[in-house]
Amino acid sequence: MGQIGGTMAKKHIVLVISGGIACFKACQLCSDLSKKYEVQVILTKHAAEFVSPVTFATLTKRPCLIDMFSAETDYTKVIHIELAKWADLVVVAPATANILAKMANGIADDLASTTLLAARSKILVCPAMNSFMLDNLATQANIATLCKRGIEVMQAETGFLACGDIGRGKLPVPSEIEAKIANLLLESQTLKGLKIIVTAGPTVEAIDPVRYITNHSSGKMGYAIAKVAAIKGADVTLISGPVNLETPVNVNVVQVKTALDMLEAVKANWSDHDMLIMAAAVADYRLNKVANQKIKKSEASLQLELVKNPDILQWAGEHKQAKQVLCGFAMETEHLLENAKNKLLAKNCDLLVANDLTTKGAGFAGDTNVATLLWPDKQESLALMSKTDLASKLLSVCHELYQTKNK
Ligand code: PMT
Repeated sequence: MGQIGGTMAKKHIVLVISGGIACFKACQLCSDLSKKYEVQVILTKHAAEFVSPVTFATLTKRPCLIDMFSAETDYTKVIHIELAKWADLVVVAPATANILAKMANGIADDLASTTLLAARSKILVCPAMNSFMLDNLATQANIATLCKRGIEVMQAETGFLACGDIGRGKLPVPSEIEAKIANLLLESQTLKGLKIIVTAGPTVEAIDPVRYITNHSSGKMGYAIAKVAAIKGADVTLISGPVNLETPVNVNVVQVKTALDMLEAVKANWSDHDMLIMAAAVADYRLNKVANQKIKKSEASLQLELVKNPDILQWAGEHKQAKQVLCGFAMETEHLLENAKNKLLAKNCDLLVANDLTTKGAGFAGDTNVATLLWPDKQESLALMSKTDLASKLLSVCHELYQTKNK
């Protein structure tokens, strides 16, 4: 095994190449990455049937690793653990169905899989295989497991496959993988040391033991913010109304039901956090009196008396310290910018994310949003993007605001 060390300023990438025809693209990827980063290649034995270790050793100026036990192995070092500690990012490209299955199931039976099991850094996997294998429920379940664990999975592309079929399963072009890597390295740990509260989902307000008032929020926007903030290294408290989403990795979740519960959770946490991002769709009204028993449907009509819920964002704005950043959302169906600007100022926010439910691809439940960011003195309209990308953009802006306030 070669030296683990090298230029201090360069980020360290462990590039795991598993055995499929897409290995030929890994040569270009390795060449491109080696110009910017310190790259250590690990080939699986099958990958070494497709491409020669000589290529990667020449490109990276490091021995290309394959075996755990070989004549060249330096047994004074525990290679896979050293690599796991050394890596700023581990990239698996191409990732075969076999390596995905091993990762999902914690199998460690060669240098590639033991290193992946030991990895401390972010992992990016780029599946590439025949579309029948990719679509197999086992492969899909393995990919879903990896995503749940916070591993980044790049979508395979559609096109001509080596077997002659046309379908999904191609490795993305090296420049796309490289762009994703750059993003992940940039993102990594930029929010380390910051404590961030995110609210997400709807609140529900009981009418009686059976019925309640709520809204269509799925929690996707808030969960995306919490997930990305945790990936960027923040200490994240996610205060969530009832939703059907997996808890993001490395996020502390406080489950709440009503607006009053959410207010209590925000009150308990706000003073010792650096940022609060209120993506939750809080019910504005609750029942004045919740019925103890199921209301009978004998009457032709029913009057419910509603009382206003406290405005949590308003409370947080009134109790904001000079060093803290407060970001609200505004969900509108008309006069988006006018209403959003009023909310920004009335609630003492540093930033407000305005989305209009009538815009295609924006608002509730979908995976995308269309938003305008408003500061007290300016605004920026963003294009349609995934909620994850919006989360990333929003967190960068909040981070800049935090840095300005805490110079
Ligand atoms: O969850 P998804 O399905 O992904 O949908 C995302 C979303 C549409 C819910 C999200 O993008 C969004 O717009 N969230 C804010 C929804 C909302 O309640 O907007 P509002 O304009 O009614 O409220 C303005 C701000 O005050 C919000 O930050 C809200 O959290 C806050 N608020 C509102 C009422 C209240 N009683 N207390 C509050 O703190």
